[in-house]
Amino acid sequence: MSQPTYPIRTPRLTLRPVTLDDLDDVYAFQSRPDVVRWMLGAGPRTREQSLSSVTAMAGEDALRAVGDCLTLAVTTDAGVIGTVELVWRSDVDRTAELGYVFHPDHGGRGLATEAAAAVLDWGFGEFGLHRVFARCHGRNEASARLMGRLGMRQEAHHVESYLFGGEWADQLVFAVLDREWRVRAAVAAG
Ligand SMILES: CC(C)(COP(=O)(O)OP(=O)(O)OC[C@H]1O[C@@H](n2cnc3c(N)ncnc32)[C@H](O)[C@@H]1OP(=O)(O)O)[C@@H](O)C(=O)NCCC(=O)NCCS
Repeated sequence: MSQPTYPIRTPRLTLRPVTLDDLDDVYAFQSRPDVVRWMLGAGPRTREQSLSSVTAMAGEDALRAVGDCLTLAVTTDAGVIGTVELVWRSDVDRTAELGYVFHPDHGGRGLATEAAAAVLDWGFGEFGLHRVFARCHGRNEASARLMGRLGMRQEAHHVESYLFGGEWADQLVFAVLDREWRVRAAVAAG
């Protein structure tokens, strides 16, 4: 079993496992149409649906087996402002998939980038990943920009590769390797 030492602290954030007490904060962003706009299979959630989501996420505090998802609540003095997740996709290939959802009230300050970077630090460091990829809807520009800020390379633009709301949608795939992450970390450290 692998899990970060909690809490993870960054200059502006604290990351820790989700708890049931986070329901109000999580519902505040999961219920917003603008937040779920580009997310597959997710309409704005009811409070009941958010309760199911928070209950599931509360159990995602460690990577125990391939397929597991590590979900962390990203907190400030304002409470939980978003979540970041790492899905363990392959043991042999040491690969995981990154995901993130943030409340728009806290957007535009680099907080999602800071949180995702902290999870990647753990994934490439202690957990020993070789590659992390992330995917988004071709029109999810904020997500694509975030992946770019993280130093992820765009590896693919799959044209009309999946059904999204009954229509064919493009999907962008970004990735970063452990050696690329180390270079970025060294540059960031000056
Ligand atoms: C994807 C998402 C997390 C991006 O949020 P975001 O606020 O754009 O990202 P950040 O918190 O990293 O902030 C970056 C912005 O702040 C600016 N910024 C200000 N200070 C900054 C700093 N210190 N460091 C980095 N960026 C900073 C950046 O220039 C950038 O602005 P820009 O995109 O207009 O160029 C958010 O849009 C979201 O949650 N969307 C809904 C859920 C979703 O679609 N998830 C992805 C599914 S694939």
